[in-house]
Amino acid sequence: MSIVYLNGNFLPESEACVSVLDRGFIFGDGIYEVMPVYGGKLFRFNEHMSRLQNSLDAIKLHNPLNINEWHKTLIELIRLNGGGDQSLYLQITRGSAKRDHALPKNPKPTLFAMCNELKPLPVDIINEGVAAITLDDIRWLRCHIKAISLLPNILLRQEALDQDAAEAILIRDGQATEGAASNLFAVINGVITTPPKGSTLLPGITRDLVLELATNNGLACQENNISLAELQQADEIWLTSSTKEILSVTKLDGHKVADGKPGALYQRMLTLYQDYKETMRRE
Ligand code: PDD
Repeated sequence: MSIVYLNGNFLPESEACVSVLDRGFIFGDGIYEVMPVYGGKLFRFNEHMSRLQNSLDAIKLHNPLNINEWHKTLIELIRLNGGGDQSLYLQITRGSAKRDHALPKNPKPTLFAMCNELKPLPVDIINEGVAAITLDDIRWLRCHIKAISLLPNILLRQEALDQDAAEAILIRDGQATEGAASNLFAVINGVITTPPKGSTLLPGITRDLVLELATNNGLACQENNISLAELQQADEIWLTSSTKEILSVTKLDGHKVADGKPGALYQRMLTLYQDYKETMRRE
């Protein structure tokens, strides 16, 4: 039985309850984070905390805990769930209040965190890559907020799954923004390219690490818009996220990407990423 964290308490998941009037339940009024845990350690903790704070600021909600309190709480939750490799989910909602669109005067946020299994990428996915489809980006213009209201993302991802693809790559005004639950990279003329941060995409922690690893290892990279036409002609396409790390897209809208195999730069980046993780485990 997994142990979860709810409002200051650690308890079995089946005993954790929140009010039906919680604004997370009623309005999807809240934000979240997903953080990988390797060897019992929180991966890129400060970066996740800084994005959490940005999301809270954007929805005008105060942070109920300081960074040390968060660290202590999450490390204890990981320990209670057996340590090792996990995916840690945490969410903060605006708490329970009479249903009213207007923000409550003195909100009492609901804090929740849980651990999920974090499986390594299957070898066949590393060797073969995945299929993706492109879809219109039907989301709002505050995609930089990691909001729990994910209905558009869910429907987009499901459309991809229904078409036997692993992910939907979203297109807004002719430009590729990101995946339904991942960031996007394309290798264009040998340069690792990812769309610049802004309100049309989530500033992914894995995305930033990939850019950092590329820069530190002399691989050409840039933050630049990627048009649909450029994506269709790309040498390589990658998707990044905390739970999937780096995926190679080898089929786009039913057509092979280049020769239909994960590219050389993908393999190099995946190795750099795995090495980085192992160094962190040993620290
Ligand atoms: N999603 N873009 C979107 C829309 C996402 O939902 C995610 C991650 C990312 C990648 O961000 P990061 O590298 O920080 O995980 C980009 C998480 C994993 C989720 O919702 O489960």
